[in-house]
Amino acid sequence: MKVLIVGSGGREHALAWKIKQSPMVKELYCAPGNGGIAQISECVDIPAEDIQRLVQFAKKKAIDLTVVGPEAPLVAGIVDVFKKEGLAIFGPSQLAAQLEGSKVFAKEFMQKYDIPTAAFESFDDIREARAFLAKAEFPLVIKADGLAAGKGVMICQNMEEGEESLVQMMEDKIFQEAGRRVIIEECLKGEEVSILAISDGKNYVLLDSSQDHKRIFDDDLGPNTGGMGAYSPAPIVDAELLRRIDESIIGPVIRGMKKEGAPFEGILYAGLMITIEGPKVLEFNVRFGDPETQVILPRWKNDLLEIMLACGEGRLNKVQLQWDPRPCVCVVMSSGGYPSKYETGKEILGLEKVQGKLDTMIFHAGTKKEGKKILTAGGRVLGVTALGRDILEAIERAYEVVEQIQFDRCFFRRDIGSKAMKHKGVRAPAGRQN
Ligand code: AMP
Ligand code: GLY
Repeated sequence: MKVLIVGSGGREHALAWKIKQSPMVKELYCAPGNGGIAQISECVDIPAEDIQRLVQFAKKKAIDLTVVGPEAPLVAGIVDVFKKEGLAIFGPSQLAAQLEGSKVFAKEFMQKYDIPTAAFESFDDIREARAFLAKAEFPLVIKADGLAAGKGVMICQNMEEGEESLVQMMEDKIFQEAGRRVIIEECLKGEEVSILAISDGKNYVLLDSSQDHKRIFDDDLGPNTGGMGAYSPAPIVDAELLRRIDESIIGPVIRGMKKEGAPFEGILYAGLMITIEGPKVLEFNVRFGDPETQVILPRWKNDLLEIMLACGEGRLNKVQLQWDPRPCVCVVMSSGGYPSKYETGKEILGLEKVQGKLDTMIFHAGTKKEGKKILTAGGRVLGVTALGRDILEAIERAYEVVEQIQFDRCFFRRDIGSKAMKHKGVRAPAGRQN
């Protein structure tokens, strides 16, 4: 089969790495890809958002399946366009992708189907939003309705911060049209986890749990990023909690979307807060998480292509997912300055020393190949990933590799995975206990 992957980050490198392991794959393409993806597939210079050129390419090459990584083309309707042209594609329709594309849609949907989430109000008039803030209790969370590359969420401690966020989103339009409408919601407390499910619109299966590390600095301090590291499984999610998440969240979403005439096909990502009242939804994504994918795929033993094909044919009820019980950890190495301004074009050294090390993988996020060199080309640069007999071994293996890679102004968190240690039955690392 010929497979095309759309996207250019660490998630897409992990997808390419995993899909390439399928004996069914004869040719693998990625648009636009990156320096690491180029080592295992043919990179095509088409941006992920250029749906028309992607269709033309898929037709010309007779691509058998296209797999979409990022949210922007999904929300823009890439799946509908491909299907109309008779091309097979893995991902949700434009209608179903609204779960991520519009926070107002997602919240109203959750309200309708009684899915636990933070209490909220939505506003398209800044005066009304202000009036609401004046009577509200802080902290609270202000979110831009539309896509804002993971930056459209502001946690406000007081009226001043709330006022500033409203002005930035609704008047200064820092997220363009995405901030035309906003949501103001209750600030939830607890530990965050990511639960992903694969669905064919009717049947669905939960994937193993994972946890992201969204803040830039150790101990979850500093501004939010796209994700500075992840681990899977998340020990906070025991069988009982997973059952509850399935019953109160994932099941109702899949059944509700079908009822709405927008059956959800693809990967449903539920970002959850585990509160004292139980799991509540922070957000939905309609695709694999980044960097969660980098820790889920190395543990997922099935042929991913086979599962995606089963999904396209509505046969997910016939598949049994298999997992490597070993924990997996991914440490993101980023450019100094990220998530604000950072420089690119720095040469990455040491990659060859760690290539092919047992149970470790280096997924490229923002890199490009120039001649024989690999240069930094984004905020998140590499996702150094390792499996271990236990979380501690996985953490140590990942950091052992991280220590051998260098580039100018390289930055990474030193506490990835340590939250898993707090939970019962997990061996704590020497000197890294919290
Ligand atoms: P989102 O893009 O909606 O996942 O938000 C990004 C991050 O903001 C989440 O991962 C949380 O850390 C935080 N966040 C979002 N909504 C809330 C909320 N209602 N209460 C507390 N934290 C939140
Ligand atoms: N890791 C968060 C996301 O993929 O949106």
